[in-house]
Amino acid sequence: AAPTRYEAENSPAICTGTIDSNWSGFSGAGFCNGDNSTGGWAQFTVTAAAAGTATIGVRFANGTTTTRPAALVVNGAGAQTVSFGGTGAWSTWATRTLTVSLTAGTNTIRLDPTSSAGLPNVDFLDV
Ligand code: GCU
Ligand code: CA
Repeated sequence: AAPTRYEAENSPAICTGTIDSNWSGFSGAGFCNGDNSTGGWAQFTVTAAAAGTATIGVRFANGTTTTRPAALVVNGAGAQTVSFGGTGAWSTWATRTLTVSLTAGTNTIRLDPTSSAGLPNVDFLDV
């Protein structure tokens, strides 16, 4: 089935930072510019029709040359570490595909930065 798109700027998503629109190429009305600290996370609330593994896509931009690592936290439990490499420019977006285990119904998926640089800019999550 076609993925459902969850925009970082749309409630109930939470961006610990600001919703910005100054770098072009984003989807929807903006993107999450998380605070540049380990507290600058982005959380999505997604719905799964059935329990099991799901392929998700995180669209992001990292205009620096330093990789920004994050823990992928699903329903409060750390699932895996994701490294968001530089994309060349803040206006150059890339989609990172990951596999996660979801429960039937509502799930929270949070990207928790593990370095003081914080997250890359985050545009949306496709599930
Ligand atoms: C710049 C850029 C932001 C980005 C930030 C960062 O300020 O304009 O969009 O979030 O760098 O380093 O995280
Ligand atoms: Ca930022």
